Amino acid sequence: MPFYVKMGEVPQKRHTTFFKPNGELYREQLMGTKGFSGIQSILYHHNPPTQVTEVKKIATIDMQYVEREELRHQHFLSFDAPQGGDPIVGRRYLLGNDDVVMGVCSPTEGMDYYYRNSEGDEVVFVHKGEGELQTIFGTITYRPGDYLVIPIGTTYRIVPSTEDTRFLVIESQNEIVPPKRYRNEHGQLLEHSPFCERDIRLPERLETHVEEGSFEVRVKQNHTLYSYTFDFHPFDVVGWDGYLFPYALSIHDFEPITGRVHQPPPVHQTFAGQNFVICSFVPRLYDYHPEAIPAPYYHSNVESDEVLYYVDGNFMSRKGVVEGSITLHPMGIPHGPHPGKIEASIGKKETKELAVMLDTFRPLKATRQALALEDTAYMYSWLPVKK
Ligand SMILES: [Fe+2]
Repeated sequence: MPFYVKMGEVPQKRHTTFFKPNGELYREQLMGTKGFSGIQSILYHHNPPTQVTEVKKIATIDMQYVEREELRHQHFLSFDAPQGGDPIVGRRYLLGNDDVVMGVCSPTEGMDYYYRNSEGDEVVFVHKGEGELQTIFGTITYRPGDYLVIPIGTTYRIVPSTEDTRFLVIESQNEIVPPKRYRNEHGQLLEHSPFCERDIRLPERLETHVEEGSFEVRVKQNHTLYSYTFDFHPFDVVGWDGYLFPYALSIHDFEPITGRVHQPPPVHQTFAGQNFVICSFVPRLYDYHPEAIPAPYYHSNVESDEVLYYVDGNFMSRKGVVEGSITLHPMGIPHGPHPGKIEASIGKKETKELAVMLDTFRPLKATRQALALEDTAYMYSWLPVKK
């Protein structure tokens, strides 16, 4: 994030002696992106983060992409995906490319290990459930509607406190940041941004664990999962400061931008990644020109694959979608409102729709798991109903 945060204890000057109460030195670790040129934080540990007792490979991650036969609009019923597993193992990857992957997760088990994605940033959108995102930077309490932004390399654990949990997971191969056009040259969010720094929820508390034992950290790197064993708790940080940290942003704190006539999808943009954007469709007043058509026009997003994840509310331009539906409108062919939806939108004052959109600038591939959830009639759902 483009602002400075300090939690816990850090020495007055970096790279200087910093002693524990017993006279030993704390171990300083710089965690930064882009080879010391990107955002970074400095953490102070009780133990050297290099003190690994065992490392082993657990698995190669095979996304099981299926080559596309036809270029068609697709609809996946993500709530039909099998529940189970923990907040990492239970992730069912549905769509992806070399920049980003999207999946859903409805865990029924807890994590008896810690996890670190060393490929890129993650955004975990909380559709249902409450709990804690516990990280090496501290703990964030989450609730429905939260985007949990977890930077590359963050050691963490997700601990749901409610039974019915549903996450939408977006894993990038790069960083995920607020859009540049909403920030000034110092990184500060500008007045026309739909959210500001006050909406960004930092870790609420930093718990320093000094207990010893056997602790596993699973690390994902280059599509491979490794297991690292430590004889001390990985959350042994006494303090940290910098610009790299996890945070939460609630979709309910996203202030919609509206106009006299239909506003294009970029007004919904919430985050930017490399070759993709994440947008929030939230309850809002409709366009107020007296002759406005609130439903979108047909559009040929010829350089963008559009994925919508439907969270709640009646989605104005679509029929047949349900909670947890995911639609993919691929680049190259037009899409738009279903028959009757344009007329039905005229004169409407507001929408209660809630959805998350992932637009990618390179084509997405569906996984075998996604195709098992597909409503194959979707491509032809724009045909007029025969009388
Ligand atoms: Fe669209």
